[in-house]
Amino acid sequence: MLAMNFRGPYRVRAQQKPDPVIEHPGDAIVRVARACICGSDLHLYHGLVPDTRVGMTFGHEFTGVVEEVGAQVQNLKVGDHVLVPFNVFCGSCFFCQRELYSNCHNTNAEASAIGGIYGYSHTAGGYDGGQAEFVRVPMADVGPTVIPKDLDGDDAVLLTDAFPTGYQAAEMGNIKEGDTVLVFGAGPVGIFAAKSAWLLGAGRVIVVDHVDYRLEFVKNFAQCETINFKDIDDMAVHVKKITGGLGADVCIDAVGCEASGSLAQTIIGRYLKLQAGAATVLHWAINCARKGGTVSIVGVYGPTFNAIPIGNAVNKGLTLRMNQASVKRHLPRLIEHIQAGRIEPKKIITHRVPLEEVSDAYHIFSSKLDNCIKTILVPPRAARLSLVH
Ligand SMILES: NC(=O)c1ccc[n+]([C@@H]2O[C@H](COP(=O)([O-])OP(=O)(O)OC[C@H]3O[C@@H](n4cnc5c(N)ncnc54)[C@H](O)[C@@H]3O)[C@@H](O)[C@H]2O)c1
Ligand SMILES: [Zn+2]
Ligand SMILES: [Zn+2]
Repeated sequence: MLAMNFRGPYRVRAQQKPDPVIEHPGDAIVRVARACICGSDLHLYHGLVPDTRVGMTFGHEFTGVVEEVGAQVQNLKVGDHVLVPFNVFCGSCFFCQRELYSNCHNTNAEASAIGGIYGYSHTAGGYDGGQAEFVRVPMADVGPTVIPKDLDGDDAVLLTDAFPTGYQAAEMGNIKEGDTVLVFGAGPVGIFAAKSAWLLGAGRVIVVDHVDYRLEFVKNFAQCETINFKDIDDMAVHVKKITGGLGADVCIDAVGCEASGSLAQTIIGRYLKLQAGAATVLHWAINCARKGGTVSIVGVYGPTFNAIPIGNAVNKGLTLRMNQASVKRHLPRLIEHIQAGRIEPKKIITHRVPLEEVSDAYHIFSSKLDNCIKTILVPPRAARLSLVH
């Protein structure tokens, strides 16, 4: 089959590799209809995630049609159109029982913090991802959700990660009616966090980035205020100024380890790698939150330490919440929001690229060219599937 193939930092290409096969009776094989590129894939692409092996196929946001099921699979049948959450999870361990699917204890032998993730290096279990014609889906009775007939396929693929992650970011913010929510990052995750903040009762939503076309998009899509941080001398002083001297009730980090905005952080975290990426947004979020407020982190950081102003967080009495999203937990509610017309996730899709051109697609998304916000890769012969979903 044709699949995206990692050749080393900044080098990916589409090439042939063997079709995946059923390895366990609980597996399914899914023929991919659509696969997105996520901001998290950029950390892999830029060579920042340990143990990203040459030959790996990325892609943890995909939909498709069930092609084959293992002998034990009961909830799926051949021909079902499914969306597959980015988490690989068992559904029954201590953590899954508490709906902490992203922390599943059974799907990632390599780590005790994070569970399995499709196409996310061997630190997340080493599963090949969905930027391919076919993908092996382990524990197929647990993760995949059959796409409701009235749900658009483009909306469905955004339910595998970006929308639920933005939603969980807002949910972890403990938003109270009327709260001011400050979102760092106007990428797909930040855009959905801003929109979700309103759904959860925010009274004011402000999004920070430095890419103008993204700020323009989020202003219209999420009806929020925006700040271009290039125009600001001191983020915390500015935020206090526009919030009556208090700071934001809730700050959301939807940027992670590759943040711009501080030369020192960029050098220490991104180039010298003396900490797990640039902690610029962690500093800003802690310092912009009001006393007693909440900082919610979904931006991804590496496994080692980051120097952050923990003393300020303690003295302000902040609540810090963070995790990889547990996608499946949010699906019923988010499908309802889409069906009720409260949100149209697919509006963030700006690019639809044949899988053969995966190398260009990564370059455009990574360099923020051509007003790119979200890219869908379409495998050969998948157009036929997309007609249905
Ligand atoms: N926790 C999870 O489950 C989960 C899931 C998906 C993505 N993520 C992570 O969320 C983050 C965002 O993902 P995305 O797909 O939206 O990525 P993206 O790369 O498209 O967007 C990130 C945005 O942050 C902006 N940015 C850079 N520095 C900034 C700063 N100092 N302040 C404000 N904005 C800044 C960039 O210009 C960009 O628009 C990534 O770290 C990704 O790995 C986490
Ligand atoms: Zn992702
Ligand atoms: Zn589990």
